Amino acid sequence: MSERESQLGLPAEVLPHHVAIVMDGNGRWAQAKGKSRTVGHARGAEAVLPIVTECAQLRIEAVTLYALSTENLLRRPDDEVAALMGLYEQYLISERKQLLDNNMRFRHIGRRDGMPPTVLAELDRNAELTQQNTGMELALALNYGSRQEITDAVRTIGEKVASGELSPDAIDESLIENHLYTAHLPEPDLLIRTAGEKRVSNFLLWQISYAEIWVTETFWPDFDVEHLHTALRDYARRRRNFGAAPVAID
Ligand code: IPE
Ligand code: IPE
Ligand code: MG
Repeated sequence: MSERESQLGLPAEVLPHHVAIVMDGNGRWAQAKGKSRTVGHARGAEAVLPIVTECAQLRIEAVTLYALSTENLLRRPDDEVAALMGLYEQYLISERKQLLDNNMRFRHIGRRDGMPPTVLAELDRNAELTQQNTGMELALALNYGSRQEITDAVRTIGEKVASGELSPDAIDESLIENHLYTAHLPEPDLLIRTAGEKRVSNFLLWQISYAEIWVTETFWPDFDVEHLHTALRDYARRRRNFGAAPVAID
């Protein structure tokens, strides 16, 4: 057991391969402190790096962070969206070195339409600079919606069928998976949601079919490495069946 693993008290075999996180509660965190939502988002952005770094050091293969849904982009006030975009741009630049130092491979998942070109440029730059890295995959879901992702996949598959490149008989689960934005990632084993809501809010609908769900009341800006460890310990105790009859334990 490495030093890191022993700190957590868990062997590597019981850790999830892929952790997906709905980083919710920035607004409520701010409200509880009498601050603006923008301050909440800024504190939320600060909470990201320690969690991602810990996951990389624990040798978790992939982390997907839900940073902004397509619905957030469409339905939140313009000034809130602009403040969020400014923060993403800033953090994509300031955390670049950490991505490289930790050998992480960065990706953006989500639609590019409707995103400011300056943010897209930093997303692309981080992806490009970390492309050859061999450590943890870090996917940032920005302007992401799972229904939109599935719609895009179906459209591409439909075009391939229409052009004769693909036979309808060739459409199976793995073909669909290979057309999702997450084609390169293992399935999430653990879905963490902060701030207490028990819903998935259009996040990875296909991919989380058998993910274990862990919800905490803690708001995202307060979520720290100890909370992550609690989630991982809880995950390690779960018995996953994937539809099979549970194995009897004496
Ligand atoms: C999550 O925090 C961040 C984004 C959705 C961008 P919220 O802004 O949703 O915070 P609450 O849910 O209002 O507390
Ligand atoms: C989900 O949170 C999206 C992110 C955390 C980025 P929301 O705050 O948008 O979810 P709802 O609207 O409460 O379902
Ligand atoms: Mg919310």
